[in-house]
Amino acid sequence: MEKFKVGVIGGTGMVGQRFVTLIAGHPWFQLTVIAASARSAGKTYEQAVGSRWAMDVPIPDEARDLVVMSAEDDVEKIAAQVDFVFSAVDMKKEEIKALEERYAKAECPVVSNNSAHRWTSDVPMVIPEVNPEHIKVIDDQRKRLGTARGFIAVKSNCSIQSYVPALSPLRKFGIEKILVCTYQAISGAGKTFETWPEMVDNLIPYIGGEEEKSEQEPLKVWGKVENGVIVAADSPAITAQCLRVPVSNGHMAAVFVTFKNKPSMEEMKQIWADYKGRPQVLGLPTAPKQFLNYFEQTDRPQTKLDRELEGGMAVSVGRLRPDTQYDYKFVSLSHNTLRGAAGGAVLLAELLCAEHYITRR
Ligand SMILES: NC(=O)c1ccc[n+]([C@@H]2O[C@H](COP(=O)([O-])OP(=O)(O)OC[C@H]3O[C@@H](n4cnc5c(N)ncnc54)[C@H](OP(=O)(O)O)[C@@H]3O)[C@@H](O)[C@H]2O)c1
Repeated sequence: MEKFKVGVIGGTGMVGQRFVTLIAGHPWFQLTVIAASARSAGKTYEQAVGSRWAMDVPIPDEARDLVVMSAEDDVEKIAAQVDFVFSAVDMKKEEIKALEERYAKAECPVVSNNSAHRWTSDVPMVIPEVNPEHIKVIDDQRKRLGTARGFIAVKSNCSIQSYVPALSPLRKFGIEKILVCTYQAISGAGKTFETWPEMVDNLIPYIGGEEEKSEQEPLKVWGKVENGVIVAADSPAITAQCLRVPVSNGHMAAVFVTFKNKPSMEEMKQIWADYKGRPQVLGLPTAPKQFLNYFEQTDRPQTKLDRELEGGMAVSVGRLRPDTQYDYKFVSLSHNTLRGAAGGAVLLAELLCAEHYITRR
């Protein structure tokens, strides 16, 4: 099969490096362009990344000697060379919004890891197993942008990918309220213990903007496409506290939930075991075979032991039990830079290719 030609905008950064690593050897995608700021443009990828390379594998051969282009100055040139781009730039929100729209209007689909467009009403925010049907709003987005190929699709924030997957198949029981505390890894801030030594033996009870995202983004993911926009769900009520913990990778969530029609614990576990999303049905290359994995052991899932399950794309659940104030409580874990960031965006791109929203030029 002829591969899709792919660009990575912000390819020198922490998330961009993860994209470069995941695209190398991907059965459908060929890394064709890497772009970053004007500071990196004109250098080879190896020179531009320098000592910032943070992956635990070497720089892939197909990336090493690519000459980095300028994400802002070379939009048309890049759009002409690729079938779509992944975006992971660190710029001001309004600048990212404008830049991603420039790519879309240059007829280059954008699959973004950034939060800038998450609340643009005709931009789908997709967890591929949960709300794949939202991608149909792209038809209306294209009308607004005046494009035939170009559009923007985004993934959700990494924190919600630790608990929304387990709750989604339970929505048929009428979820009334959710309380969630997340315990989030330092890589979510683009950091390692070397670059953030203050996090060793520490916990910081504040992550700017994260609690708002954790409470609001699930409602867009659980929303409906109506009249060319995504209308967010108006329930359940969600309250969240998000803590930064001394863990390199993996966001754990402690979840409390109450239903209108309370299911039994056995029913919940069976639903998790049986759950198959569109990526599993389509057999997408990055899709985990088993999306939701329930652990019966009382001390699992553990971040270090279970975050890499199915290439870091599966979600692990455990400790389901009755609660004194809510119906039930349980814990749920996902890998924040794989499922929660670049891996989730790669899976979204695979879905968009399989559903013919991304086509070869
Ligand atoms: N780290 C995570 O786990 C995570 C998770 C979810 C979302 N995010 C989001 O993903 C984005 C990238 O995060 P990151 O941690 O990868 O950031 P990062 O390591 O600081 O990398 C930023 C990237 O943006 C590029 N860039 C900066 N200014 C630019 C400009 N004016 N024009 C073009 N490119 C520019 C940089 O290029 P140079 O190398 O040339 O400077 C670099 O490639 C951010 O929006 C962040 O909020 C991160």
